[in-house]
Amino acid sequence: MKSFQIAASILSADMASLADQVRQAEAAGVDRFHVDVMDGHFVASLGFSPEVVRVVRRTTQLPIDVHLMVTDGNQFTKSFASAGASRLIVHAEADWHLHRTIDSVRLTGCDVGVAINPATSPMVIDEVLPLLDVVLIMTVNPGFGGQKFLPETLPKLERLRQRIEREELSCQLMVDGGINANTAANAINSGANLLVAGSAIYATGKGIAESVRDLH
Ligand code: DX5
Ligand code: ZN
Repeated sequence: MKSFQIAASILSADMASLADQVRQAEAAGVDRFHVDVMDGHFVASLGFSPEVVRVVRRTTQLPIDVHLMVTDGNQFTKSFASAGASRLIVHAEADWHLHRTIDSVRLTGCDVGVAINPATSPMVIDEVLPLLDVVLIMTVNPGFGGQKFLPETLPKLERLRQRIEREELSCQLMVDGGINANTAANAINSGANLLVAGSAIYATGKGIAESVRDLH
């Protein structure tokens, strides 16, 4: 099996005991945390603020990825960076000046990533790929946890993986949405090396430790 990391998405965590849910996932062996930010415009839902990132930051030393599903990611880079984010991921579809936003994320000291939705061609990030630490391929339409993995997104992973290998880029390939013990292998075999999982960690009914074990 190729090597991969798991990021726990706290979207499906029990917010009444967020710190405990973070500790349990860390103890179960996840590699990083994933915090979704939603503005009710780019996606229909609302959530999480820099304060939530601060809680996660106080609870773990693992890296925190902040996934900005908002129409103006550039507006929020400083506040999430100072809350303790390790990496900021903006959506290509939501940004007319992606290159400038990538620069402004770099200035915060955070690593930088770009996400693309299922309907978006990876061509839109061709020019910036060498500047990125991670590309996030959405494997569901963004905004909600617990949706079904879309296998038609897999060819994009293969295409990006080929270019990353060919040009020896350091960019990671992350998948987000519908990842569970059944879909993870397809994503990894197509080139993903970072799996985001929300409901497959926090909402299986089996407990966090066993759910992370199943994913591994
Ligand atoms: C969805 C979010 C995901 C979400 C994934 O728009 O970006 O991070 O937590 O949830 P699952 O793993 O349940 O599909
Ligand atoms: Zn996400």
